[in-house]
Amino acid sequence: MSEFALKINGSDHKVDVAPDTPLLWVLRDTLQMTGTKFGCGAGLCGACTVHVEGNATRSCSMPVSQASGKSITTIEGLSGNGLTALQQAWIAEEVPQCGYCQVGQIMTAAAFLAKTPHPTDDQITQAMAGNICRCGTYDRIRKAIHRAAGGGQ
Ligand code: FES
Ligand code: FES
Repeated sequence: MSEFALKINGSDHKVDVAPDTPLLWVLRDTLQMTGTKFGCGAGLCGACTVHVEGNATRSCSMPVSQASGKSITTIEGLSGNGLTALQQAWIAEEVPQCGYCQVGQIMTAAAFLAKTPHPTDDQITQAMAGNICRCGTYDRIRKAIHRAAGGGQ
């Protein structure tokens, strides 16, 4: 076990875990921040996506030792005060079905929109390709991203 300092959603945390513990399990099990979901555990589905230094990152595949000292944002800290435009668009388009993948979808979309505020369909397809939805909500995800970008739909 080793002690790691994590900055999550603007707050400092110290955790005492094995260095190779995935960030996902530190969030969920050590810090009880269960908004971030476990899907495949192998970097293949995107359910566990958080932001590390503003980049969409699969927390199941990042050891806590690599996350230490970096700025991490989870779904719990995405909105700050009130819902973001992206979250409001998600509601307006009634995107979720079972909901399981949706946190990862929103976190990926948020990091993408921060860098590409007015995306094309192709850019959305490319950016979201790594986030799997078993319920097939892809069309509504696309509409919500356009809506959040100001394109309505
Ligand atoms: S749980 Fe991390 S990519 Fe699937
Ligand atoms: S809403 Fe069910 S897996 Fe995406």
